[in-house]
Amino acid sequence: MTDWQPPSSLRDRRIEYETAGLDVADVDPDPLEQWRRWFDEAIDAGATEPSAMVLSTTGLDGNPDARIVLARAADDRGLGFYTNYESAKSRQIVVSPTAAATFSWLELHRQVRLRGRVEAMSDAESDDDDLRRAEKADRVQPSRSRRPRKGSGRRCGQWITS
Ligand SMILES: Cc1cc2nc3c(=O)[nH]c(=O)nc-3n(C[C@H](O)[C@H](O)[C@H](O)COP(=O)(O)O)c2cc1C
Repeated sequence: MTDWQPPSSLRDRRIEYETAGLDVADVDPDPLEQWRRWFDEAIDAGATEPSAMVLSTTGLDGNPDARIVLARAADDRGLGFYTNYESAKSRQIVVSPTAAATFSWLELHRQVRLRGRVEAMSDAESDDDDLRRAEKADRVQPSRSRRPRKGSGRRCGQWITS
């Protein structure tokens, strides 16, 4: 046990989360369309990395595991991300092909949570040189033009489908 005490700035931190609220009547019936709207709002709000989502998987030992990945595609199949097939997450997904993902757009006091199956993209979709170049540009300056593209991917891409 440690006797470390959280600094008062952590312990006593209080933020008024004044949000616009959520009116069900304003929500698009298509969850992906709603996600696109909010994604654009996150960009407009100056979110540091609006494409970043915490991807949660089930570890090979049955325990939860989570890490950040970047959404790189969005279409009817769900949200696409890429990773290395040798990565821990890829090995976990082979055994437990479901995942949860959470976008946290804190500038808007907003999160989006999704859960679903994870499927590999086709080789053609996964091997996308344009996206490779976009990857570098995105890290410098996220912008609407770099919104995850319809149906694009990169080697080792995976879809989360709901
Ligand atoms: C801002 C940010 C973006 C990241 N984007 C990705 C990504 O798109 N794909 C990926 O495989 N790892 C990405 N990473 C690294 C992962 O978070 C993770 O460390 C790595 O993929 C190994 O995870 P694993 O051992 O659970 O497979 C990113 C990390 C950060 C901090």
